Amino acid sequence: MKMRKRPNILLTGTPGVGKTTLGKELAQRTGLSYVNIGDLAQEGELYDGYDEEYQCPILDEDRVVDELDDQMVDGGMIIDYHGCDLFPERWFHIVFVLRTDNTQLYTRLESRGYAGKKLQDNVQCEIFQTIYEEAMEAYSEDIVHQLTSNTPEDMDRNLEQIIQWSEQWVKDNN
Ligand SMILES: Nc1ncnc2c1ncn2[C@@H]1O[C@H](COP(=O)(O)OP(=O)(O)OP(=O)(O)O)[C@@H](O)[C@H]1O
Ligand SMILES: [Mg+2]
Repeated sequence: MKMRKRPNILLTGTPGVGKTTLGKELAQRTGLSYVNIGDLAQEGELYDGYDEEYQCPILDEDRVVDELDDQMVDGGMIIDYHGCDLFPERWFHIVFVLRTDNTQLYTRLESRGYAGKKLQDNVQCEIFQTIYEEAMEAYSEDIVHQLTSNTPEDMDRNLEQIIQWSEQWVKDNN
């Protein structure tokens, strides 16, 4: 029997906007498979060098893409990453860019222990809507959507919206 086709969803946005919180809940509610690119890279040591300035390993983008490509072709994947132009355009049926007000993001990142340049750079990334612009360049503009992610109510509404969209996609594509 042929498997039902299911959509691939990208959750992206500045660190701290709530991608992981939303993505895991979404996976539970939809049965789609959730992949956190940071965790995947760590588990497989998919790195290519070390960034001295930010004190973190540099992602080996080609190996990440190779690692996931078969699963992405099958569909039904939720991908969580704070960047988006490393993935092939063909992978995603929809792209959500989560957005959080600067003051809230500042508080969230601070309580996570971020300080100094790391804290400032991340808040600036949100102010300059860097990831939104990256997404609009990397994907067809009509599949890129911004979602407000300030409060738990926002998260509930975002979940409902994505679940509805996903159910409709399954109907339309099977
Ligand atoms: N809609 C929301 N309203 C209030 N708090 C939220 C919301 N979404 C996430 N949070 C909180 O913000 C913090 C950061 O969330 P989360 O770890 O999901 O962000 P992230 O986008 O995955 O960050 P990173 O890119 O660094 O992994 C967590 O403490 C989480 O509980
Ligand atoms: Mg996360």
